[in-house]
Amino acid sequence: MFLKVVLLVVLIRMNVGGSGSNLPTDHVALLEIKSMIKNDSLGVLRSWNDSLPFCKWQGVTCGHRHQRVTSLNLTNKGLEGSLSPFIGNLSFLRYFNLSNNLFYGSIPHEISRLSRLQRLSLSNNSFTGEIPANLSSCSKLWSVNLNSNLLSGKIPNIFSSLWRMKILVLSKNNFTGEIPPSIGNLTYLEKLYLALNSLGGSIPDSLNQLKQLRELGLGGNGLIGVFPLFFYNLSMLELLNIPENQLEGNLPTNLCLSQPHLQVLEIDFNHLSGLIPPSLSNCSELESFDVTLNDFTGRMKIDFGKLQKLWYLGLEGNKFESNSVDSKNLFDSLSNCSNLETLELSKIQLIGVLPNSLGNFSSKLIRLRLYGNYLSGSLPSSISNLLGLTILDLVLNNFTGMIPESIGKLRNMGGLYLEANAFSGVIPPSIGNLSFLTELYLGGNKFEGTIPSTLGSLNLLLTLGLYGNKLGGSVPKEIFQLSSLSILLDLSQNSLSGVLPQDIGNLNILGYLDLSENRFSGELPSSFSSCISLETLNLSGNFFHGSIPEAFLTLRGLKVVNMSRNNFSGTIPTYLQEMDLKYLDLSYNNFEGEVSHKGVFANTSMISIIGNRGLCGGIPELHLPKCTTSDSERSTRKLSVRVVVAISLSSTIIGLALLSFLLFYCCRKRNTDKTLATISTEFFEDISYGTLFKATEGFSIENLIGTGGFASVYKGVLDESGFTVAVKVLNLSKRGGFRSFMAECDALRNIRHRNLVKVISCCSSIDFQGNDFKALVYDFMPNGSLENWLHSVNQMLDLAQRINIIKDVACALDYLHCHCGNVVVHCDLKPSNILLDADMVAHVGDFGLAKILSLEGVSNANNNSSSVFRGTIGYAPPEYGLGSEVSTSGDIYSYGILLLEMMIGKKPVDPMFEEGLTLHSFARNALVDGSLLHILDPVLLVKDVEEKSLISLVKLGVQCSSESPEDRLDIGTVVHELFSITVSTN
Ligand SMILES: *[C@@H]1O[C@H](CO)[C@@H](O)[C@H](O)[C@H]1NC(C)=O
Ligand SMILES: *[C@@H]1O[C@H](CO)[C@@H](O)[C@H](O)[C@H]1NC(C)=O
Repeated sequence: MFLKVVLLVVLIRMNVGGSGSNLPTDHVALLEIKSMIKNDSLGVLRSWNDSLPFCKWQGVTCGHRHQRVTSLNLTNKGLEGSLSPFIGNLSFLRYFNLSNNLFYGSIPHEISRLSRLQRLSLSNNSFTGEIPANLSSCSKLWSVNLNSNLLSGKIPNIFSSLWRMKILVLSKNNFTGEIPPSIGNLTYLEKLYLALNSLGGSIPDSLNQLKQLRELGLGGNGLIGVFPLFFYNLSMLELLNIPENQLEGNLPTNLCLSQPHLQVLEIDFNHLSGLIPPSLSNCSELESFDVTLNDFTGRMKIDFGKLQKLWYLGLEGNKFESNSVDSKNLFDSLSNCSNLETLELSKIQLIGVLPNSLGNFSSKLIRLRLYGNYLSGSLPSSISNLLGLTILDLVLNNFTGMIPESIGKLRNMGGLYLEANAFSGVIPPSIGNLSFLTELYLGGNKFEGTIPSTLGSLNLLLTLGLYGNKLGGSVPKEIFQLSSLSILLDLSQNSLSGVLPQDIGNLNILGYLDLSENRFSGELPSSFSSCISLETLNLSGNFFHGSIPEAFLTLRGLKVVNMSRNNFSGTIPTYLQEMDLKYLDLSYNNFEGEVSHKGVFANTSMISIIGNRGLCGGIPELHLPKCTTSDSERSTRKLSVRVVVAISLSSTIIGLALLSFLLFYCCRKRNTDKTLATISTEFFEDISYGTLFKATEGFSIENLIGTGGFASVYKGVLDESGFTVAVKVLNLSKRGGFRSFMAECDALRNIRHRNLVKVISCCSSIDFQGNDFKALVYDFMPNGSLENWLHSVNQMLDLAQRINIIKDVACALDYLHCHCGNVVVHCDLKPSNILLDADMVAHVGDFGLAKILSLEGVSNANNNSSSVFRGTIGYAPPEYGLGSEVSTSGDIYSYGILLLEMMIGKKPVDPMFEEGLTLHSFARNALVDGSLLHILDPVLLVKDVEEKSLISLVKLGVQCSSESPEDRLDIGTVVHELFSITVSTN
């Protein structure tokens, strides 16, 4: 009886919301919110079910008195979907945080019913549409963060009623219109960020009421007019960041008088003018001062020495008046700033010499840019004190003398830019000690002597520019062995001589090669065929002879080729017409025979062939003589041979993935979506040997898409359905045991996850010769393997794609390790086992070789697969080599290596990793000494990418690939970390 009464009371209490159903309002609302979330890859909302009271659901907090939701915190949960209007029913909500998820669609109007809401964060999602104007009803709001969404329209003028607001962050959206004047009513406002929108107009005067303002960020808009001086009277101001607008005006003469706390003053890329007031020296808290690219003028007479906290100083591109005394004072005063890391002093009319006090600069100095000034004299050898220096840019000055040999001490140097000066003498061999150097530009000077062979030890070098000097002799072969060179090798306009060595074939990722205007001679080496990334090749103005080598056939990326003014001879190979050339200059050589009408030859603005006596044919505009029959016969005979070679070569080079990609497109046209949909349920029965024999056209070579130690993989089309599959035929001499095969097969068949290659069926049978035959049938992955994408020149994965793949693989492992019923250890995670579908979603494959720990008894009874199989060198964890049992932490190791490989672009077995240096230690060292940006795959260094996120990713890779299994993370943590790293790539 008593129990019944209590129950009744509880029911009444829970029905307070009066939803009409017998569940309380908040319960219903939460379920509605859940129902709109389409993807919950971390399983966060699994707890949102009837077995728990809703107040205990993950992310939900209720008040003590009423069982009502007061806080909903789902930050960083990888949730994807739209936000249900039912959010408005959680009328007791005070804190609502959906930041860092994948929400899309509009912010529901019903949010205005949350009259108790104090803090709202929807940052880092993809919400679209406008800010609901009725948000003004949420009068208790004091913190709103909508940073980084796709919101648009005007910022509504609703702030009069939101007077409690302290933090308002609307940056990184697509808001237009002007800054609403009612923001001036927010007299408690401490942080205002409207940066990176498309706001225009001028800054409203009403903002002068923001007396509590500490941080103001308005950068990256289209704001015009005068930047109001009243901001310099806001005494609490710590951060003023308004770069990249069209603002005018001056800095006040009494800067920092009323702003003792100012730490950051960044007004770069505007039209501010006048003097930089000497009172700047009073800003003793100043850490970052950036006026880059404004119109400031006058003499620069600031005593920076008082700014002891200053670490960033950007004065670049202003019109300061300068004389040599000012320049000396500037450098002397800067040498007292003991925290300085970045000095951007390019293009500010500096005159005079670099004083020896340069050597007294902060040892923390990382970047020193003096590009485009009028500095002269020599580079003081005291520069070698600046041991932290990673970038030294002296381009376009009047420096003379030799580069001090001591420069070789700057071991952190990543970019050394000394172009367009008048440096002379020999290039100091000690530059070869700068082992982190990625860019070396010494062109346009007066260097003489030979190129030091020590440069061959710069094995991170991406760019080497030595053009326009007086260098002579032959090029040391070590230069051509710099296989890291990917962007540029420019040796043009020197007096270099000799024959090109076969070593040139090492430059297989190089895009731009310029050897023009030297004295090179001999024939082009056949190893040119390995320079498959070349886009620009300039050999003009040398003494090369011989014909255009067959080797060029493989250079499918060539866009610009200049071979003019040499002694080349022979016919112009017809394959050139098939290439995607934008410019071809063969002028002033001894070429003969027929000129094609096609491709680049069809457009006179894209070719130059004058100065060759023996040419005929071609389009009429070339005004060449007609060919006689013997001319044309010679060309066509050669053509047929060459086309065959071209096809077979390019197919091996471009890779089987591309081939199968093309095949897939042909096949997909024949297939309908219907067969794709029905396939998964129908093909659970075993497929016969005969069916697979037919599907793969007798396991023909044409259908072979890959081979590995244990198996060969064929592409096949199943007869009845036309469905395309990959058939992996196991090599039976290496694996045995009918029962273990079937056990594994059964287990794998039941493993299903978006990021695993789906096993459609198994075939264990006898082939037509009576031998055992075992095969696994998989979904066909048209984009081939990750390996092909990572280390091929024709295909490039951008940062966003890589991150998606990194996440996909983590989700697959999470599933294998934790959520598929058995604990499955993959054992052989590596790029070639990760396959990409038509949408570039990654699928982990090849787990036919994996180990299912809970089935171990079964497989061990039959064969000893665990001792046979240890994974792949470079990816297998060190403890496997010592005989440890396979474990999930072994997979984490491989995952860490894979992650590093994707970020750094180097395989763990790259020849650079020797003598204790591994991909892991390489990355770890770079994290420690802050040189990470120099070792990352350059593809990732896109504009605006957040360094922090790249660092987090590499850190994760380093942690996962720790030597000792105990130091590695578990996959759950990895997934969680990954989804909390946000990378903006716009
Ligand atoms: C919200 O959740 C995140 C992570 O789960 C936590 O770090 C944060 O402190 C929470 N916020 C509040 C106000 O509870
Ligand atoms: C931003 O808004 C402008 C004008 O409404 C529109 O043209 C542009 O496409 C939008 N940009 C994005 C990224 O949505």
